[in-house]
Amino acid sequence: MGWNGAVRTIRKFVPTNPVRRALWIGATVTSGALVLLPEVIKLDGRRHADWVQFVGRFHPLALHIPIGLIVLVPLLEIGGAFRPALREAASFVLGLACVCSFGTVLLGYMLAYGSGDIGTTVRRHMWGGIALAIGLLLCLLARSSMTPGVTARAYPVLLVCVLFTLLWTAHQGGTLTHGSGYLTQYMPAPLRRLNPFQTAAGIRDSNSFYGKEIHPILDANCVSCHGASKTEGGLRLDSYYWLMKGGKDGAVVVPRNVQGSMLFERTTLPRDNKHSMPAEGRPPLRPDEIARIRAWIEQGASAETPSVAGVAIEGQSIDEPIQPVGDYSALTQEIGEMARSQGPKLLPVSAKPSDGLILSTVDASASFGDAQLVQFQKFAPYVVEADLARTSVTDASFETISKFMHLRALHLEGTPVTGRGLA
Ligand code: HEC
Repeated sequence: MGWNGAVRTIRKFVPTNPVRRALWIGATVTSGALVLLPEVIKLDGRRHADWVQFVGRFHPLALHIPIGLIVLVPLLEIGGAFRPALREAASFVLGLACVCSFGTVLLGYMLAYGSGDIGTTVRRHMWGGIALAIGLLLCLLARSSMTPGVTARAYPVLLVCVLFTLLWTAHQGGTLTHGSGYLTQYMPAPLRRLNPFQTAAGIRDSNSFYGKEIHPILDANCVSCHGASKTEGGLRLDSYYWLMKGGKDGAVVVPRNVQGSMLFERTTLPRDNKHSMPAEGRPPLRPDEIARIRAWIEQGASAETPSVAGVAIEGQSIDEPIQPVGDYSALTQEIGEMARSQGPKLLPVSAKPSDGLILSTVDASASFGDAQLVQFQKFAPYVVEADLARTSVTDASFETISKFMHLRALHLEGTPVTGRGLA
């Protein structure tokens, strides 16, 4: 088909009615603009004007409108087989869904652009949203010229594609706001084994050198800017999976090549260098932390290796069998209620009660202090790990903590604890 043929084919689709033609051309131009947007205004990983972020933050709220409308369309179409009025409503709802989708995409773009967020998930979510808006437009065009022909037959197919795109895009968005393990965290174990994304979820192996030594350093110093909610430089450091994925300039950890690993380079630059990490004058990593990162990278930067030569892990050796704790089955109901609440939680280490519990305050760190810790005393014999990072727990809690006799790991980053009395 030559150039003329192509023009003729396109012509066939362009409606002759002037109003319809204007709509058609408008739709094509808008779609083109949306596709080119990421090229024209590049997501550069930098933060931009506050007002852009302010407006952009309405995206997570606004997106529910098009989702609701899109889901309604196939229902109305099917209902239309029995009641023709519903079919008429479908075209109106579809039009509305289309307009709202374009608006939502723009808000989402402002959010990503304003906050300097350029992770791979952000990009996937963005392209999903753009595809969705354009897909809806195509649906609208196909449907409005409901002549018995190609376009009429294309409409149901397009609609199904739009629904799948919606599902996928929503999943990417969910991953952005809740982290990649959100859906699978409470998945029943047999299902979880089938889950192909398991490794991608970045499950943290707390017995590996990475889990014990590297992750805590990054969690305490870097994740506030390189995590799920904020992904500066396109880099997330909140799990092994993301760490190895790298940032906007590629890999940040190159196994066995310390000098070539940007993570090492950035954390060892002179503090007055503007690329020095942690950024914005946050306290630098301590020499012993840097030494651990260096040794870990030199020896292969593996997720599993339990130890790294030349680095002594304080406390318990990993070969020593872990002491079983008592059986907390009698308290299961109370623990379950807590897990469903908004507050601090006790999470079982495994299905075996003798493996103990992990006290997690991540959802309630702001309101968790000494008094709240006291309330957990009755669980003290069963707790093997306590995450009190970023809570307001103070030195006064050491007495309570000393009752947690099976405690193997205690996180106190970002608390007012001074360290005096830690022994
Ligand atoms: C206060 C926020 C903040 C903290 C904390 C922070 N960073 Fe960054 N980081 C940034 C910003 C902003 C960028 C992008 C600009 C740049 O490249 O300098 C960035 C970029 C990077 C990059 C380059 C990514 C790429 O692909 O270009 C690396 C590597 C990095 N950070 C490592 C770290 C490490 C390791 C820590 C913790 C020890 C850390 N950062 C803590 C804000 C932060």
